[in-house]
Formats: sequence, structure tokens, C-alpha cells
Amino acid sequence: MFFEYADTGSWTSSTYKRNENDFKSISFRQRVAKNMSNRNLRKIIIGEDINIPLVLSPIGICGLQYANGEILAAKAAEKKGIPFTLSTMSICSIEDVAENTSKPFWFQLYMMKDRTFMDNLIKRAQSAKCSALVVTLDLQVMGQRHNDIRNNLEAPPKINLNTVMQFVSKPSWCLNMMTAKKLNFGNIMGHVTNVTNLSSLASWTADQFDPTLTWEDIAWIKDRWKGKLILKGIMDSEDAMLAVKAGADAIIISNHGGRQLDGAPSTISVLPEIVDAVNSKIEVHFDGGIRSGQDVLKALALGADCIHIGRPYVYGLGAKGQEGVEIAIEIIKKELDLTMAMCGETNISNVGLHNLHHNPFKIIN
Ligand SMILES: Cc1cc2nc3c(=O)[nH]c(=O)nc-3n(C[C@H](O)[C@H](O)[C@H](O)COP(=O)(O)O)c2cc1C
Repeated sequence: MFFEYADTGSWTSSTYKRNENDFKSISFRQRVAKNMSNRNLRKIIIGEDINIPLVLSPIGICGLQYANGEILAAKAAEKKGIPFTLSTMSICSIEDVAENTSKPFWFQLYMMKDRTFMDNLIKRAQSAKCSALVVTLDLQVMGQRHNDIRNNLEAPPKINLNTVMQFVSKPSWCLNMMTAKKLNFGNIMGHVTNVTNLSSLASWTADQFDPTLTWEDIAWIKDRWKGKLILKGIMDSEDAMLAVKAGADAIIISNHGGRQLDGAPSTISVLPEIVDAVNSKIEVHFDGGIRSGQDVLKALALGADCIHIGRPYVYGLGAKGQEGVEIAIEIIKKELDLTMAMCGETNISNVGLHNLHHNPFKIIN
């Protein structure tokens, strides 16, 4: 049920599949006889010097893919010199991750109706010295995911015939879970009034995503959060310009990995028009459908400043914990490095449209 939670989109999963498939129609411009030694993948992203322009996306309930999953993914990111983003809907709390890592991580915020809880959550991210706040704007209401309904997914999982059968068939997962510090939402449990047990936690959470969220709430957040602010879930040039106006330091072009509006375009297809609209005023980050270093290079060539990945590292985490996440990052890094070289480029900051042979997502002004 946790693999299926990750490996799904909303409704027909058409946007989820489109995110991956649209990369296939872009091709590279191959160059030869250029000095390809001394390659550099480092880049400054929102003021942070990182080893590769790659960030681990916020992913809910990583701690149920693998015991203490958020801590392990954060450690892997730290070891590889890239940022990790902790989800509001994580199993390990902000404090758990901060206590077990030595570098600042990013924190992702879902706007909830309970503004006292929100105020406190922002303060907790500040005390944990998170270096960026990523506010997700595309989940005011929740896209329907058929797998999760069929599996009756909850944190922690409900005990019924279906779940028992799944546990019995996955003994190593069960053993691993016995080492988990927590099995429910660590950022929420113990931090909201009237939530004292698991059933009240489940109903509180389901009711809390705020459909009234508007740009005025971003001003409310900015009054409280003085650090770097990144707005996630932008799919439209007009919204991108509103994000610039709202004072964001960066946006993330994202359709939530195809988990929200099924039928929305792929993220790679809207990247060029959003880059054009933002016109270098703030950084444009990108996620959705990245499955290789080649995909990373294509998105950078189309104008993204930095790339975020979700599922590639979650699969690594589910398979092998921290080591799995490190391997996933390493595979992408190596593919990126070699592909960049074969395109005749030695510095990741110089990658651009000139590295592409065919780009079906040109903007026609
Ligand atoms: C299993 C899963 C859980 C997710 N949970 C969150 C979340 O808690 N907060 C959030 O902002 N985005 C969440 N996302 C979206 C990711 O942050 C990211 O936008 C998406 O995974 C990128 O697409 P990719 O998986 O194709 O790389 C989730 C995605 C997946 C696959």
C-alpha cells in the first residue's frame, strides 16, 4: 500500500504519465572534440552553494516507506551536499530531523485552517534553523487517488484483513518498522488541541487543508517567516507573476507529481512559458517526471535553475533506507555529468537551449 501510495497519480493518472513521457520528445545537441575535462556541477541556489542543482522534494509519510525515513533521506541529502525538504505530513517531526542532522534542511508548509497551529509550525521551523520555507499551493483540496481508497491508507495503517495480508507478505518491512521512532504524523501529534488519539488525529488532518487559501495568506506567512520563501505548485505564467509580486525568492513549477489536477499539462511543457514570464526576477525551480540525469539536463536547458525529485528517491528509500537514497542521487548525478559532457558543456550554470537539438515546447511570442 505504501508503494502504491507513491506510484500513483490522481484519477486516471494521465498527468502523472504525461510528466514522464513528455521528456522523451526532447533531444540533445551532441557535440564532439571539445575539452570535456574539469566539469563542474556546483551551483548557488537561493544563496546556498550545493553540489548538484538537485533537491529532495517534500514527500508525505516517508517514515512508513522505511523506518525513520525522513531522518534517513535528510542524512543522505546532507552526505551528497544537496537540500532535503521535510513535508508537513511527515512521520518524523521537524525536531527529529534537526536532532539527527547537522546541516539546515528546508521545511514544506501546507496551509491549514488552524492558524494557531500554523503560527507554531512556522516558529518550530525557525527554531530548527530550516534554511527555506516551501509553501505548497496546489493542495487546498485533495485530488482523488484510487490506490489509496482501495488500500484504506492511513497513518498508522488500520488493522483489517487487507492490511494484515499485506503485512504478512512483507515480513522485512514489518521488522524494519519495529525500529521506527514514530508511526503517525510527527509534526501534528501533540501540537494541536483536542487531538489526543489516532482517530481524532485522522479526522483533524482530513478537515484541515484550507480551501480558502489566497495570496493574502502568503503575506500572513511572510509576516512570520523572515527567511527564504519558495512557492510550490505553480503551473501558470499568471500565477508565477503573482508569486513574484508576493515576494517569493523562488517558485517550483509542479503539479504535485500528477497527484492533484489530473488532465493538467506536464510540468516540462509549461516550463519555457513560465521562465519567460518570470524573466529572471526570481529563481524558477522544477519538479515532475524526472527519472534520470538526462531529464535533469533537459529541464535545466529549458531554463530551470534547480530540479527537485520525489519518487526516484522514495523508491530508493523504500528499497534500502539511507543507502538507497544515496544511490538514487548518485545515479542521477553520474548521468547528468556524463550527458553534460557529451553535449560539450563543462559548467552546469552554462547549460541552456543551445544544448538541445529538438524542443517541442518552444514558446511562440
Ligand atoms: C508519495 C508522494 C507524497 C507526496 N507528498 C507531498 C507532500 O507532503 N507535500 C508536497 O508539497 N508535495 C508532496 N508530493 C509532491 C512532491 O513534492 C513532488 O512535487 C513530486 O513528487 C514531483 O514529482 P516526481 O515524483 O515525479 O519527481 C508528494 C509526492 C509523492 C509521490
